[in-house]
Amino acid sequence: MAGHPQDEFESTTENAALVELLRRRIDAEGAISFHDFMETALYHPQHGYYTSRQPMGREGDYLTSPEVHSIFGALVAKQLRQCWELMGQPLPFDVVEQGAGTGLLARDILRWAQTRAPELCQAMRYRIVELSPALRRRQEETLASLPAEAQVEWLDELPEGFEGCLLSNELIDSFPVHRIVHQDGQLLELYVSHQNGRFEELSGPASTTRIAEYFADLGLWPGEGCVAEVNLQALDWMKSAAGALRRGFVLTFDYGYPAKELYAPWRREGTLLCFYRHNPSQDPYARIGKQDMTAHIDFTSLIRTGEARGLSVAGFTTQARFLAKLGIGAGVEAVARESPGALEEYYARRRAVLMLIDSAGLGRIRVLAQRKDVPQAELLGFAEDGDA
Ligand SMILES: C[S@@+](CC[C@H](N)C(=O)[O-])C[C@H]1O[C@@H](n2cnc3c(N)ncnc32)[C@H](O)[C@@H]1O
Repeated sequence: MAGHPQDEFESTTENAALVELLRRRIDAEGAISFHDFMETALYHPQHGYYTSRQPMGREGDYLTSPEVHSIFGALVAKQLRQCWELMGQPLPFDVVEQGAGTGLLARDILRWAQTRAPELCQAMRYRIVELSPALRRRQEETLASLPAEAQVEWLDELPEGFEGCLLSNELIDSFPVHRIVHQDGQLLELYVSHQNGRFEELSGPASTTRIAEYFADLGLWPGEGCVAEVNLQALDWMKSAAGALRRGFVLTFDYGYPAKELYAPWRREGTLLCFYRHNPSQDPYARIGKQDMTAHIDFTSLIRTGEARGLSVAGFTTQARFLAKLGIGAGVEAVARESPGALEEYYARRRAVLMLIDSAGLGRIRVLAQRKDVPQAELLGFAEDGDA
């Protein structure tokens, strides 16, 4: 690739064009909601983080599971094969991946299917829905090396009435969130203004009545004095996912908790985190446009929204357990057994496995499987019996 995308703004500590347009907007409209600030900082079509940087991977700002090792995609593919079988092996079987990053998960799923499940490979249409034009180009580069029988296409939105599986990894935790604070018995929202060349936060009445409805539906509030995030886009996404899927599964990997844990009174500062070159921070006003921002998601509201639209929970677990149930340990032993001389590969795999199941890191990602119009059956990655 010509020039590293990270180089473009490296001489300053923030993306100056993005900061300028945020300031102008605040001058014109007054303080904007944190949600609007985050949406612009991450997704502005020219200057947003996701359009002007290389976000994920070792050269980027944070590591996702597909970036760690191809074993992740292989095990997800194994789960997809069982989903396809439970559905009666439909042709085509659409795997719709939304928010595909650099395309590595797609590549590894398709490679596994080609070598380990050729019938699935013939049935599978891999369809990617990606918001960032820059990442879409990366995905096209990544997937260009796949043999012709791999069927891949890009769509601008979720296809209507598809049969198969809607797959995402760390999509929902990248949606812009509203930030709220429970102050003196009221739920206030955080807004962003600027003064003397610096962005500053103010609190005010909620920008939408959906925030009060959201907590009323949950039957809880964050603790007094706590800041918390509300991801309304997650619920809209779940509604559109349930509407678009005619029959099959939704398989979601994301950082988050059930609502009681996410909004526990001891969680004083919420879960918003920023990442720049693998360093986390809690300051969304540093390195604007050059750092990622993410907030943990509320699986309770997500599950309830799906249930109200015909999606039943088929499994809910941690990534560590999911991968263990699908045999991540055996994958490492196989390298040792099949190529006893390949010590380097053995150690690389071992390191990757430990990262993918690390209960303080990627292993604590939650995995949610939902099904629609498919008979209930135990999914391999969510099996209850026996030890992982
Ligand atoms: C945190 S990254 C994860 C990327 C990839 N799944 C991975 O695990 O490496 C979030 C991805 O979702 C994409 N994205 C965010 N909002 C989206 C939307 N509404 N529709 C499609 N893609 C979206 C981003 O551009 C990016 O590719």
